[in-house]
Amino acid sequence: MLLRLSNQTFKRQFGPFTYFFHRLNASDRVFRDAEVFCEKLTRVPTEKSEMVNYILSIYTDGDKEEICRDFDEFVTMLVQEGYLLAGDTPEALDAQEQRFTYNVEKPKTIDQYERRQTADGGFSKISQDVLGEYFREHPTLFSLHMDITQNCTERCRHCYIPAYNPLYLSYEKICSVLDEFRAMGGLSISLSGGECMMHKDFTRIVQAIRERDCTVGVLSNLTVCTDEKIRVLREADATVQVSLYSMVPEIHDAVTCLKGSWKRTVDAIIRLRAADVPVRISCPCLQINYKGYPDVIKFAECLKMSAQTDFIIMAKYDGDCSNLCNRLTIPQTREILEDVILRAVPTESEYFAVGKKAEMPSPEVWMAQKACGAGVDSLCLAANGDFYPCPAFGDYVIGNVHQQSLREVWLNSEKLNLVRHATKAKFPKCAVCKDRDYCSICLCRNYNETGDMFTPAEHFCKVAEQNHIVVDMKHEQVKKLRP
Ligand SMILES: C[S@@+](CC[C@H](N)C(=O)[O-])C[C@H]1O[C@@H](n2cnc3c(N)ncnc32)[C@H](O)[C@@H]1O
Ligand code: SF4
Ligand code: SF4
Repeated sequence: MLLRLSNQTFKRQFGPFTYFFHRLNASDRVFRDAEVFCEKLTRVPTEKSEMVNYILSIYTDGDKEEICRDFDEFVTMLVQEGYLLAGDTPEALDAQEQRFTYNVEKPKTIDQYERRQTADGGFSKISQDVLGEYFREHPTLFSLHMDITQNCTERCRHCYIPAYNPLYLSYEKICSVLDEFRAMGGLSISLSGGECMMHKDFTRIVQAIRERDCTVGVLSNLTVCTDEKIRVLREADATVQVSLYSMVPEIHDAVTCLKGSWKRTVDAIIRLRAADVPVRISCPCLQINYKGYPDVIKFAECLKMSAQTDFIIMAKYDGDCSNLCNRLTIPQTREILEDVILRAVPTESEYFAVGKKAEMPSPEVWMAQKACGAGVDSLCLAANGDFYPCPAFGDYVIGNVHQQSLREVWLNSEKLNLVRHATKAKFPKCAVCKDRDYCSICLCRNYNETGDMFTPAEHFCKVAEQNHIVVDMKHEQVKKLRP
């Protein structure tokens, strides 16, 4: 019998963990100490017997029958879950390949990791938890976010980018970074900007990513999304995240400061759907558009696309806070929190598991935790070649691709190590704060707004206080339903 990875499956080895990611099912699996079993599982059809012989040649002291039985079980499970294809001929394997389509009841247009509820009412660990723990101890470059241009077709009133210079990262430089990224075991590439589709080599870049067996995600406003780009995105099994601020064209255009942008964006969303490209719609909430976010969510649902909203608006990354006049006031934030948490979050959600509230860590335990995820498993690259820890942290330059290699920056940057190893002990005031478990500490948003990554802005404290109140209201709601 022949076996090979499906075209939707991506495999990586992280220390003792073998990781499988299935693009289409948006599911993943992680196995400890299974490298030998997994080594011959590639995209090249290979006889199962050849794999077994290889495994036996390594485990010369083991019980042959038991090893064969274990491998059989392992392979059967991977085939059942779609990671592996099995058949008698290469053609039989090809015939089993699946592609993304909206023509099913619930297409997965976003990676969703569903936790299984356990008998004791808790939730099982998922691959993300296991890898997350490993990455925190062993920082590992899993994803790279590339702002391939600073230029943009829009001028959104809340945007954190201070200037839209017509800078473009060259195709050649991008390819050399991709080679390094792949050699370091990286998996996921996102293209962003500015507006990444303005890059003259956009389609070649998408192809170059896929050729290196990495996943492609594109963050775009879609205003210059041609049919040719859509064809290439489909070919590369790419996913797209688009910002849509309202279903009222005038409101969307007032956010983007580009007349006609709503029409162009919505038209492209429809064309991407027709081409079966998975799209997630993002609707950041500002004062001008927040009332209409449910209509954007409904629009996404009608198209079977996933949607998300957010009300956390950061200052520009050069410290200019003038864009913050657009963000929600505290009463408006409360309105959104009540709407999302009380109405939209299902009462059976893991976040509201009975007893969850009692599990708050002590200040000592809390202070030992990492401050945030920056520098743990991802990195960003700007159009001018600067590396920085995460999107919107553009002023915190940790190296430059024209002077250093990706590996050098990842391994040796002192500035990266500072954020990577920062613990919550850097926030003594927060350690004793009643709202700290309802607040997500983010070094980048602190840095942009207060000039110091370890000094939170007052606005976020007020948001955390409201979040705490509304989450408590939800717990009361759940208790009444599940006493
Ligand atoms: C910087 S844009 C780049 C990709 C593309 N141009 C777009 O707008 O989708 C990525 C996302 O960041 C969001 N964004 C921009 N400025 C922001 C800010 N100050 N705070 C939070 N999100 C912001 C945008 O609304 C968009 O959803
Ligand atoms: S949010 Fe995106 S589309 Fe809007 S100005 Fe910024 S980079 Fe451009
Ligand atoms: S609310 Fe303010 S003081 Fe409390 S944890 Fe958050 S940032 Fe720190």
